[in-house]
Amino acid sequence: MDERNVFGRGKVILLGEHAVVYGRPALAAGIERGVRARVAGPGEMRLAIEPWGREVVPGVEDDELSRAFAAVIAEQRGAVPVRIDVEVELPAGAGLGCSAALGVAVVRALAQAAGEAPADEEVARRALSWERVFHGNPSGVDNTMAAHGGVAVYRKGEPLEPIRPKKPLRLVIGDSGESASTRVMVESVARQHERDRPRTEKTLDAITALVQNAKLAIEDGDIRALGQLMDMNQLLLGSLMLSTEALEEMCAAAREAGAAGAKLTGSGGGGCMIALVADDDVGQRVREAIERKGRRAFLAEAR
Ligand code: PMV
Repeated sequence: MDERNVFGRGKVILLGEHAVVYGRPALAAGIERGVRARVAGPGEMRLAIEPWGREVVPGVEDDELSRAFAAVIAEQRGAVPVRIDVEVELPAGAGLGCSAALGVAVVRALAQAAGEAPADEEVARRALSWERVFHGNPSGVDNTMAAHGGVAVYRKGEPLEPIRPKKPLRLVIGDSGESASTRVMVESVARQHERDRPRTEKTLDAITALVQNAKLAIEDGDIRALGQLMDMNQLLLGSLMLSTEALEEMCAAAREAGAAGAKLTGSGGGGCMIALVADDDVGQRVREAIERKGRRAFLAEAR
């Protein structure tokens, strides 16, 4: 069995979250952790998410997972009733694209059961209907990165633009442990956009400038510059009221321990932060500094 067919990658947004909802580019990267799905055999259509102790059947209206499952089954031509078992290696609702990784893994499992191996673009497209159940107005960055991986510039409605980092992008990912709802955070920015469009647009434009420079920094292998751009992105996310005390404390601890830059990743309002580090030694120190604040952290490479 081709393992890629049954894996959905977790992702981090290096820069540009929220702005991406407004048609701006974002820089995103896949990480090694994700969701693995296995077709356990024929039978009634069923999705078993072991770590959450959930058995999901399609068509239960007041259950989001069930509706999302039904949505991707509807996308699969000639869907074969199977039981799908999944293993989740990501925290849920933490900004690492857990739900999209789950959607992509389920899409691939359904395709495999139907004897099909769709291209990544098609997998991403089908998984968007999964994402829509959870997040009213998703930009599509999560499902796209969950299907493709790599480091890339994503822009709504445009083909993914893969970029080749000159140096490996080593990250420490810290989890604030506070759960955040992407839907709520996206709605909060939408309210600011409605109330004060010129100011919000200016902030989104400033984020876009950072994303464009960050792309160049990645291509040049300039970790220091990329870190500074991430710090600036964090300030702008803070000005949109997306950061929290815990995230700020973790970012500060990471910078003090030698990170080149740090910011929240994903929707904010809780969830995870990322710190960019020059090498694994700095990475370990940053991880320990975050853990000393009582939060979980792990090292990851953007890929
Ligand atoms: O928190 P996550 O992993 O769902 O990421 C959300 C990214 C946003 O830009 C805030 C929303 C979106 O749809 O792109």
